[in-house]
Order: sequence, then structure tokens, then C-alpha cells
Amino acid sequence: MEKISSKVKKIKLNAANFLKIVSNRKKKIDSAESVDVKPLSGYRPNAIASVIHPERQFVKVSEITAVTGSAKLIKLVPDKDRGTERLAPFAAGSCISVEVSIDGRTYHRPYSISSSPLEGYYEIIVKSANGGIVSNFLNDNVNAGDGFVISEPFGELTYEPLRDAKTVVGIAGGVGITPFRSFIKAISDGAENFDLILFYGIDNPSDIVLKDEFDRACSNPKIRVVYVMSGEGDVPDGFEKGFVTAELIKKYAPEGDYSVFACGPEAMYDFLEVELKKLGLRKKFIRFDYRGEPLRPKKLGDYIPASCESYKITVDDHRALTEITCGGDETLLKAMERNGIRTRTKCMSGICGYCHTKVSEGDYYMPGNRDGRRAADAVYGYIHPCCTFPRSDMVIKLP
Ligand code: FES
Repeated sequence: MEKISSKVKKIKLNAANFLKIVSNRKKKIDSAESVDVKPLSGYRPNAIASVIHPERQFVKVSEITAVTGSAKLIKLVPDKDRGTERLAPFAAGSCISVEVSIDGRTYHRPYSISSSPLEGYYEIIVKSANGGIVSNFLNDNVNAGDGFVISEPFGELTYEPLRDAKTVVGIAGGVGITPFRSFIKAISDGAENFDLILFYGIDNPSDIVLKDEFDRACSNPKIRVVYVMSGEGDVPDGFEKGFVTAELIKKYAPEGDYSVFACGPEAMYDFLEVELKKLGLRKKFIRFDYRGEPLRPKKLGDYIPASCESYKITVDDHRALTEITCGGDETLLKAMERNGIRTRTKCMSGICGYCHTKVSEGDYYMPGNRDGRRAADAVYGYIHPCCTFPRSDMVIKLP
């Protein structure tokens, strides 16, 4: 240690020396002896990082199972012919972004992984939806053997033993059940170790996916599933009626601390915000899985109406400037997709930062509950187009 420090020339840190750092470093590099350097991918930490965080993964569909009249379970395995030997590991509750080409346009959509981390494959549940271009396409057109490019697994709805309580109260609305299937499987096979009380909200019993599987999983004392039916009609025995209220949570939750994980439509989160306040839970125990595009701006509390409904957006993709139009109630990402402009996107919920884009000109609105930017990004004019609505003509520069 002493030897090394004796060779280090001490430099007084002041503004003049600071400004010379780059030019001095360049001079030293230029005058240094040339040596053979191993490619960076040859270093063990980089090799491990590329397995855990691959830039992209090639998968193919190995099986498709209908789980309700409008939802399918799609099993994805590594596509070795295209270079993916094994899938990146993930924690239960994570999702992947699936790239799909439809009519010459490229779309990316996040889907929760619903298999267990120990199973060696990813399963996703895709439900047909009104206006859901990608979900409808996957539901209607995908066959066993089809190939896709997907992202690494990501997401924040994962269990952290250092942060979360020993019991998790899960609240799933409709197709928001998908990450909870992963939690249930992971608790069953030992990949996760916590108690789960899951409220599964549905309109009608026919909306429930994989009920037999969930009921079987409940033989494990760590798992309990409570079906909560909000639609009209007779309520089956053992089901609760209505919505997941503070009162209902108290009926099943343990004394003391518990975490709350929720996944479902944004309207469900607005309702839960009010209900969970009544329970006085600490903020660190509450996690809402915002996934997919935000609600139309006019439905969001912090939106200040703008004067015009449609704006001109000039997109600089480093090769050319392209002018497109974007409605005041459309995200910049959606407008770019519609116009066939490719850009980076993963979560579509403003959290991952992957779509980080510079605004050169113009005014915009980002819903407060989706604004996951760093403070410096907001100051220096960076946005997440997946959750940004124009409020004037804009000029943006893609990453
Ligand atoms: S895609 Fe994640 S923040 Fe926009």
C-alpha cells in the first residue's frame, strides 16, 4: 500500500487543476506504452452482468393455454438458434418488455412474468382488451414456435426482506393477478419466503384465471387467496362482495406490520390510496405496480388543461428531424409508435428511465404519480415520453 501511495503525485484540488484533468489524462494516455488489453467481456464481473442484465433476449413460444375466454397463458423459452442459451434470472413480481411488429410498426409492452424464478422459463398472461393493439395481436395471432425479442426482467413489485414485512397483503385487480401467480409459485417452491394474503378482485367468477391452481396452492399455510367479486349476480360461497376496502383488509390481515402490493387498473389505485390511508401503514410497506400507459390527462388530478388539443412534435433521432402530431391526451411515446418512430422503452410507466429523452423546446405535462425522473432530469429538461403529454408544440431529442 505504501509503495503505491509513494508513487502517487499529490495534486492540490482547485478550479485550475480541475479544468486540466481531462487534457492531462489525454496526454498521459497518448504517451503511454501500448499493451494488449483483454476485451471487457472477458472479465468475470462483466460476463456475470451480461447474464443477469442482457441487453435483449431471444425467446420463442413453446406453449399457449387459454385460461379464460379472453386470456391466454404464453410460455416463453430461450431461442438458442438466435443466441439466447438461457433466460436472465428474475425475482417474482418482475416483468419483461415484449417487442412486437404489427403492420410495419414496432411496439413494446411490459408484461408481468407469472412463472416462478426457479422454473427456467417465463410465462406471461395476455388478455384481450379494448384498444389494446399489442395484447389483442398476441391473443389472436401468436402460435407455438413464434419468436420474440424481449428485455431483461425489471420492475419494482418484488419482495425485499430488508424492507418488507413478513406478511404481504396482495391486491390484484383483473389481469393484475399475473405477478401474484409468480409470488404464489415462488412461495410454493421455496424461491420466496413470506406469507401472502391475496385479495383477487374480479367482476364475475368467470374472470378468474387458474382458480384450481390457486386453490391447490392454498394448502400451503403461507398462502391465502380471497376472491372479491364486484359485479352483479350471486356471490359464490366463500367469496367477498364489493371492493377491497380498509375494513376488508383488516378482517384478514395479521396484527402488526404487513406490506401491501397492488397490481391492477389505475382507478383501483385511486380507490386504494384512500383506503390504505385509513390503515396508517408506513410508506415503505406500500407498493403499487404502475405498468403501462397512464390515464388520459383530464382524468388526473394535477392536470392543468391546455388550450389546444393537437400539437406538432419535432423528433430528432440523431439522423433526421421528423415532424409528427400528438394529441394533448396522447403520450409522446404513443404518437411516435403510431408514426413508426422507434425509440427505447421498457416499463411504459415512468419508472425505469429507459426512455429518458431531452426536450429542446416546448411545454408538457407528466402526471405526478408517474414522474419517476431524477431531480436533475427535471431541471435540465429531460422527460420520459412514455408518460409525457404535450401542452404545446415540442422539439425532442431521442436517446
Ligand atoms: S419506459 Fe420506463 S420510464 Fe419510460
